[in-house]
Amino acid sequence: MCGIVGFTGRHEAAPILLEGLSKLEYRGYDSAGIAVRKGDTPVRIVKAKGRLKGLYEKTDSGKAMEGTCGIGHTRWATHGEPSENNAHPHCSDDMNVVAVHNGIIENYQELRDKLSRKGYTFYSQTDTEIVTKLVDYYYKKYNIGPIDAIAKTMVRVRGSYALAIMFKDYPGHIWVARKDSPMVIGVTDGECYVASDVPAMLSYTRNVYYIDNLEMADLGNGEVHFYNLDGDEVKKELTEITWDAEAAEKGGFEHFMMKEIHEQPKAIRDTFNSVVKDGRIDLSSVGLTDDIIKDISQVIIVACGSAYHTGMVDQYVMEEFARIPVRVELASEFRYRNPILNPNDLVVIVSQSGETADSLAALREAKAQGIRTLGIVNVVGSSIAREADNVFYTLAGPEIAVATTKAYSTQLICGYLLALQFAYVRGTMDEERYLSLIAEVASIPEKIEKIIEDKERLQFIAARLANSQDVFFIGRGIDYAISMEGSLKMKEISYIHSEAYAAGELKHGTISLIEDGTIVISVATQDDLYEKTKSNMVEVKSRGAFIVGITHYGNFEIENTANYSIYVPKLDTHFMASLAVVPLQLLGYYVSIGRGLDVDKPRNLAKSVTVE
Ligand code: F6R
Repeated sequence: MCGIVGFTGRHEAAPILLEGLSKLEYRGYDSAGIAVRKGDTPVRIVKAKGRLKGLYEKTDSGKAMEGTCGIGHTRWATHGEPSENNAHPHCSDDMNVVAVHNGIIENYQELRDKLSRKGYTFYSQTDTEIVTKLVDYYYKKYNIGPIDAIAKTMVRVRGSYALAIMFKDYPGHIWVARKDSPMVIGVTDGECYVASDVPAMLSYTRNVYYIDNLEMADLGNGEVHFYNLDGDEVKKELTEITWDAEAAEKGGFEHFMMKEIHEQPKAIRDTFNSVVKDGRIDLSSVGLTDDIIKDISQVIIVACGSAYHTGMVDQYVMEEFARIPVRVELASEFRYRNPILNPNDLVVIVSQSGETADSLAALREAKAQGIRTLGIVNVVGSSIAREADNVFYTLAGPEIAVATTKAYSTQLICGYLLALQFAYVRGTMDEERYLSLIAEVASIPEKIEKIIEDKERLQFIAARLANSQDVFFIGRGIDYAISMEGSLKMKEISYIHSEAYAAGELKHGTISLIEDGTIVISVATQDDLYEKTKSNMVEVKSRGAFIVGITHYGNFEIENTANYSIYVPKLDTHFMASLAVVPLQLLGYYVSIGRGLDVDKPRNLAKSVTVE
């Protein structure tokens, strides 16, 4: 949620800040602002409500704001409506302190009351203005330097934050602080960058520092110094980012989502090849030895949104292959329900960003109980990747579209490979099947390529869907898990109400919603459940539903029931989610386009949910 950038160096800051914000717009886009300073002249702040375009216009693409040091922000509103007044940067009354913030300050009301008693007034409804003024208050009250003033503030606030701050007395310097909100710092050629996420600085540098929780940093004169809460300097290692800048660009596609759908075969191959050598799985890079795998008594998969849907697939696949109990839980529920965990359990946290607040809290809850944790994570160096005992990286590269596609697909691959390795090591699968199923997973990218080649056909049915009020997705077993993801893809980018149901549940209530013309998308890829799902299709069809059936080639008689059929290549049924999801992603995309919506930045959403 919210994107932060900062730059201090020799070049003009404003264009760099605007470009950085354009790379972070997926994190929030209801308003944006920048603060720039030329030498020791006063800081200038410009803000605009709505998309970044407005800020570009107001600043003449940055040309209207001179100065080589500045901070910027693109906002996803938490405290206070989206408005210019509530947009960041915020400042103390005398512009002594200017700051941008990502996160939520939980005790903001108490701090606001305290500062009001000290004579501060407030012009916005944001918690950020309160933190900014608290820093100013400590700075002046104790007559201390920026690090001490920020440290005092960090001790006093509760919640999560990534802060970038400028002080009137320190031209050319940016101070940053972090707790539970991501932030990276880059240095190159005597210039310093800070941002919520790597793509914002990729065109300038690939050498970054990760600032840890409850740490601060001082950026200036081409150097970065890190400090802990005691104000002691902390040494850090530079990390090289291996993504290239192009991976974070649209590369000729109209939207990131379409580009990322096309990148799925490569992302899957890369993830697969990272742990499969000579046709066998080797989890040594993940740190899961055979002895560890043999000792695990239960697997609990915890995640949010689409990542949770991959956990649903994993549950079916892993229980079936490895005969080990698998639970899958929503992180937002898990963290607050005092879960019962056993010493030999493995808690698997699945997260593209590695920063989702609920998933991170679930990880910490499991660790606090002394349970081994495994992160399936895309963003290298993210909080979950750093805090989990073991990490299985999805090599999807930067995912920019808010609606996930390639990260989801690579998360599935990690789940399959874990399930296969667990089964083999624990003796529930013989060598021949193990090797043939690994080869089956290896065939997925090529099959996805075939589905994508045929994508134009889906536009026909997307046109029919674009005018509907409601869409229902049904399926059984893994097809139910696929339906959940298909439904989320549809609703989040097309704003059409959609629901997914386990097909067998329909007659326990939902079927009363089916009337003439209601669209039902039936996912029927599981051969052993095919006849059952077909009966459910017949039930809704006889009540007037318009049925879109998704199955694999060969099941052509689905056309006797479905009004429109979509076929994907044949594959072992356990892995069918990887194929069936692709037409559903494409449908969501085309319906969104058909309705004239912003596919990559759906309303009210942000890519990385770093607040509860
Ligand atoms: C939907 C989507 C979200 C994320 C969820 C978890 O398309 O992208 O549902 O899957 O917010 O995010 P991560 O994986 O970053 O923890």
